[in-house]
Amino acid sequence: MTTPVPRRPVRLAVIGAGSRGMTYGREAVRTGQAVVTAVAEPRQLRRELAAAEFQIPVDRAVASWPELLARQDLDVDAVVIATPDRQHTEPALATIARGLPLLLEKPMAPTEAEATRIVEAAEQAGVLVCVAHVLRYSAYTQTVLGLIDAGAVGDIVSVDHLEPVGWWHQAHSFVRGNWRREDQSSPMLLAKCCHDVDWLSALIRRPALRVSSFGSLSHFTPANKPEGAAARCLDCDVESRCPYSARRIYLAHVDEPAAQRWPLSILTEDVTEAGVTRALREGPYGRCVYDCDNDVVDHQVVSIEYAGGVTASLTMTAFTPMAFRKTRIFGTRGTLEGDGYTVSVFDFLTGRTTTQQVVDPQDAEAGEGHLGADAALTAAFLAAVRDRRPELVLTTPAESLGTHQIVWAAERARHRGQVEPLV
Ligand SMILES: NC(=O)c1ccc[n+]([C@@H]2O[C@H](COP(=O)([O-])OP(=O)(O)OC[C@H]3O[C@@H](n4cnc5c(N)ncnc54)[C@H](O)[C@@H]3O)[C@@H](O)[C@H]2O)c1
Repeated sequence: MTTPVPRRPVRLAVIGAGSRGMTYGREAVRTGQAVVTAVAEPRQLRRELAAAEFQIPVDRAVASWPELLARQDLDVDAVVIATPDRQHTEPALATIARGLPLLLEKPMAPTEAEATRIVEAAEQAGVLVCVAHVLRYSAYTQTVLGLIDAGAVGDIVSVDHLEPVGWWHQAHSFVRGNWRREDQSSPMLLAKCCHDVDWLSALIRRPALRVSSFGSLSHFTPANKPEGAAARCLDCDVESRCPYSARRIYLAHVDEPAAQRWPLSILTEDVTEAGVTRALREGPYGRCVYDCDNDVVDHQVVSIEYAGGVTASLTMTAFTPMAFRKTRIFGTRGTLEGDGYTVSVFDFLTGRTTTQQVVDPQDAEAGEGHLGADAALTAAFLAAVRDRRPELVLTTPAESLGTHQIVWAAERARHRGQVEPLV
């Protein structure tokens, strides 16, 4: 006889109530299937805002995760870990040790050794770990996979995939912001494209055999600082001619609710013109992009060979408009092109192109949260916890480790200037 499944809401603890932790908390509550009953967040204001929004009792809104996870009376059913990249491993191991299902932000961990510890601990304890590879969960991905399964392009021979980071997103996150330095966060490929490499694996469904990669930090360096540029955009005489001007990226958008949610809320809690101006004057986001302490790449290509000779190329570049990933799949019977919103299939037999729109580009709400994938992943995780159906989570931790390993191998290949074997 199976144990009866509880129908009460899933009680969640959020560790790291920043941008992502709040996203999962909100999405979870929005399903009507969950409540956030505990939070661990060192920043007092963030902690208080999270506690107020989710109506968390004061004694369950704490500054440190060890304090939270040590509580004998911790009445939660699952944990979300959305701490900075280098602070995933220890809370993940502690959550697994308590036997609690875990939604773990990507990257799983900064190193292969740490990620392997998480996988081994989860497997030994039999604990559900869902690594937040959100792209797998979108309606767009399900449409693409459905077409491939239906034979729309025949057998996949090669894939060409672009991650267009976007010029100002690069400046925000990877030049001025939290992911600008490898020693403080991750190599850019791990931070930005572990999703893409994972997505390619979902598509191709063959083991990756070897990988090569090239890329560098070419533009956001002191050598490219324009003549007469100041250290901060608010003091700069040539700022009006600079596409990366913090005045243009942030101050020009203070009245827009979407911009207030992101990226302005990353600069300051006070997203008024005065608050943003203060942040640009005093904080890291007002710095000249040619005068920061950044070292992550601004463009990188990766070539992967899979079993059976299938190949994929991935280009990640800063120097694009803000857009969703674009993919071209080349098969033995046709090609498929997708951009997150629309999927087009060209059939070699009929010579016809069939196009379907999965997400309306005019529908701003549908475009949010990785085109609805944040909500879909959260719902899948909650259902897996509530109904004790781990298969609703689309990847095991071992599979996530496998796709992270392709990223680490690509980084070794880039640094060593050679092809790296994966098997
Ligand atoms: N799945 C995705 O698509 C996606 C997108 C963006 C970011 N991320 C990842 O999510 C993670 C969080 O990113 P973010 O954008 O929310 O960053 P963030 O800085 O907005 O949030 C991180 C929060 O963790 C808190 N924190 C720091 N140390 C902590 C500790 N010891 N215990 C508890 N909380 C702690 C910080 O104060 C901050 O509020 C990162 O690993 C990032 O790479 C994933």
